[in-house]
Amino acid sequence: MKILITGGKGMLGGTLQREFSDCEVVVADLPECDITDPAGFERFLAAARPDAVIHCAAMTAVDRCESEPELAWRLNAFGSGVVAAACRRQAVRLIAISTDYVFSGDLDRPYHEFDTPGARTVYGITKFAGEEQVRRFCPEHLICRISWLYGGNGPSFVHTMLKLADSGPEVLKVVSDQIGNPTSTNAVARQLRLLLARPELNGTFHLTCEGEASWYEFACEIFRQAGVTRRVEPCTTAEFPRPAPRPANSRLEKRMLRWCGLPPMPDWHDALAEFMRERRA
Ligand SMILES: NC(=O)c1ccc[n+]([C@@H]2O[C@H](COP(=O)([O-])OP(=O)(O)OC[C@H]3O[C@@H](n4cnc5c(N)ncnc54)[C@H](OP(=O)(O)O)[C@@H]3O)[C@@H](O)[C@H]2O)c1
Repeated sequence: MKILITGGKGMLGGTLQREFSDCEVVVADLPECDITDPAGFERFLAAARPDAVIHCAAMTAVDRCESEPELAWRLNAFGSGVVAAACRRQAVRLIAISTDYVFSGDLDRPYHEFDTPGARTVYGITKFAGEEQVRRFCPEHLICRISWLYGGNGPSFVHTMLKLADSGPEVLKVVSDQIGNPTSTNAVARQLRLLLARPELNGTFHLTCEGEASWYEFACEIFRQAGVTRRVEPCTTAEFPRPAPRPANSRLEKRMLRWCGLPPMPDWHDALAEFMRERRA
């Protein structure tokens, strides 16, 4: 099997390279490959001739998307259309990675795959537009939504907390009124492998770890597992205003995994423990 990974040098791309090390992997990232260059991407894909594309490339800096919206539209929406159209023309299976930010976060239960999106940020709006490009230009696709991601060398919330543990203030204040599913790149990569082994599957899947936490609870567990003694205090979103409002509820229900008979995602505590073990090694 030959896999092409757009954004392959990024956080998830790095883990995918390792997870698929028994396959032939082609990294499609800047500067060699630009997903916003239609002719260039078409040529790159034709030369690589992969069996599947995992499309990770995106503008992921959520606050920067607010200040540079044209670049966010270009990468997240237009770029996804370029990748999708090329995959369709060259009959390559496409897995596009998306996000919980496509939802408003207002619901009082986890979002399932058939809930109506309602993004509130430039990042979420442009990522949903990217999903729609994939649905329109490449009907044979998988769209996999993930959230609260960490892995490899980051950057992520876990990496930030571990850095603050070494050099941060005496008392750390962490937001406790946003909840989600902390999710490791390892867990996502393994589930993508299982999805790729099922050529009959199509559509939108949620792929976050099982169990939920607030950022505050997540921080406490990171320090507990890292063996760090650090005072952490809960605070509200209102105390930490950000350019892009964060969804209060980022929890995703994995209905499609269940219906398609795929194994559940691991519990987030176990996935974090695996990350910590790898980090120590
Ligand atoms: N990180 C999270 O918490 C999170 C949560 C939910 C969903 N996701 C989604 O998961 C996917 C992977 O996220 P990630 O955290 O691994 O992202 P990342 O670390 O930011 O990696 C994205 C990669 O894409 C590259 N890229 C940017 N513009 C490109 C272009 N025009 N052509 C080709 N490559 C380009 C980036 O290069 P440069 O670094 O040079 O720009 C980077 O190497 C994204 O689709 C993201 O929306 C992430």
